[in-house]
Amino acid sequence: MHKNFIAGEWVEGAELNFNINPSDTNEVVGEYARSDAAQAEIAVDAAFEAAPGWARVTAEVRGDALDRIGSEILARREELGMLLAREEGKTLPESIGEVVRAGRVFKFFAGEALRLSGERLASIRPGVETDVRREPEGVIGIITPWNFPIAIPAWKIAPALAFGNAVVFKPADLVPGSAWALAEIIVRAGALPSGVFNLVMGPGSQVGDVFAKSKKVRAITFTGSTGTGRSIGMTCMQRGAKVQLEMGGKNPLIILDDADLQQAVEVAVTGSFFSTGQRCTASSRLIVQDGIHDRFVEAVIKRLASLKVDNALADGCDMGPVASQSQLKQDCDSVSSAQAEGGHLAYGGELLERETPGFYLSPALITETTNTMRINREEVFGPVASVIRVRDYEEAVNLANDTEFGLSSGICTTSLKHSSDFKQRSTAGMVMVNVATAGVDYHAPFGGRKNSSYGSREQGGYAKEFYTSVKTSYTLA
Ligand code: UN1
Repeated sequence: MHKNFIAGEWVEGAELNFNINPSDTNEVVGEYARSDAAQAEIAVDAAFEAAPGWARVTAEVRGDALDRIGSEILARREELGMLLAREEGKTLPESIGEVVRAGRVFKFFAGEALRLSGERLASIRPGVETDVRREPEGVIGIITPWNFPIAIPAWKIAPALAFGNAVVFKPADLVPGSAWALAEIIVRAGALPSGVFNLVMGPGSQVGDVFAKSKKVRAITFTGSTGTGRSIGMTCMQRGAKVQLEMGGKNPLIILDDADLQQAVEVAVTGSFFSTGQRCTASSRLIVQDGIHDRFVEAVIKRLASLKVDNALADGCDMGPVASQSQLKQDCDSVSSAQAEGGHLAYGGELLERETPGFYLSPALITETTNTMRINREEVFGPVASVIRVRDYEEAVNLANDTEFGLSSGICTTSLKHSSDFKQRSTAGMVMVNVATAGVDYHAPFGGRKNSSYGSREQGGYAKEFYTSVKTSYTLA
């Protein structure tokens, strides 16, 4: 049984959690501890005690710890990738890619620890010096989703530790395996003082709730559904805690008549269906201009037909299974609802049988949809994309922005005029030109607008905004 790591020790949980392989539901990937609220409280207390000591450790020591963690993750990429593929269902190359990303994130923040800087301002008072510094927040509560079992934990834990915070970390109940492996590396390779890092596997209703409500947790960073994010946000707001939320998307990808057809097909298929479409950055609304519409749809269908949907570990697998039974139901329901509203199921959306029993769904493309249909309003979080036909660029931009969400958006065009205009007018936090809406660089700011995100940006140099608190001091010597 894989235990929690609380207050410097590996401890059993209140219950057991069986980690099931979505590519082969007969296989239990492992047994993991599941904590209750009482254990979460112990972890928070331990982190609270340890935080001041870790804040005083030099940035170089913290950076070195992160560097060692990153090196071990990178060295074990194959093995950790295999574990990730088995528990989440991403293909093996996608899973190894995610592990590498996690390793590189630790390397990046190893450097950032030492680069944290302040400012010296001119004062309006004679002889007074005004300076601005950044200090750790204290205890950071980290709550992560199931779709990136190692990369998202990495890009929240690494900056938290780099800038001198203590951590209480709750991974998604569905995928505790990669999180546990990461935690084991962090505490051993990182050689962190007891209490600085705590792994508390368990349900959101117990563990997440304690993090959100505890006065000792100064800041909460959450990635997951909009509903849960909102409720965590309200709880944090009521007690004045800092909060960073990364939630849903309904990301548009515009294809203009002047696009390079082959490139547009790759951008759309990669963005919509890779990682089984289970990304908040996935392109789910393909907004296609009339002149290229039929050729584009035909080419996408041909490409989808060539994708091999199979066990995540199968040779040549292009798309793994859906991660869980409940997600599969949500995907199938969204396809039926789109059809009921008049959408045409042009390809896929069928349950598939493979050698091993799993949640296999063929990539679904729904054409002839309008932007008011449910399929174009609510996030599906699966291998389902819809096509909306438009007359011209103006209509395309208006529809792209007509959404409650604002995470990522994209355009496929060879027109400098339209791509520049779209970068200005898109209401999303990230805009892509001729590249997929999903799959971002680990050193650039990540985040959205409207219902997609709340609080300051994640990743890259911008991460320090959330993980540190600014202090301004005035000195008259
Ligand atoms: C990516 O597309 O590279 O949960 C990252 C998610 C996002 C991360 C996407 N927070 O899908």
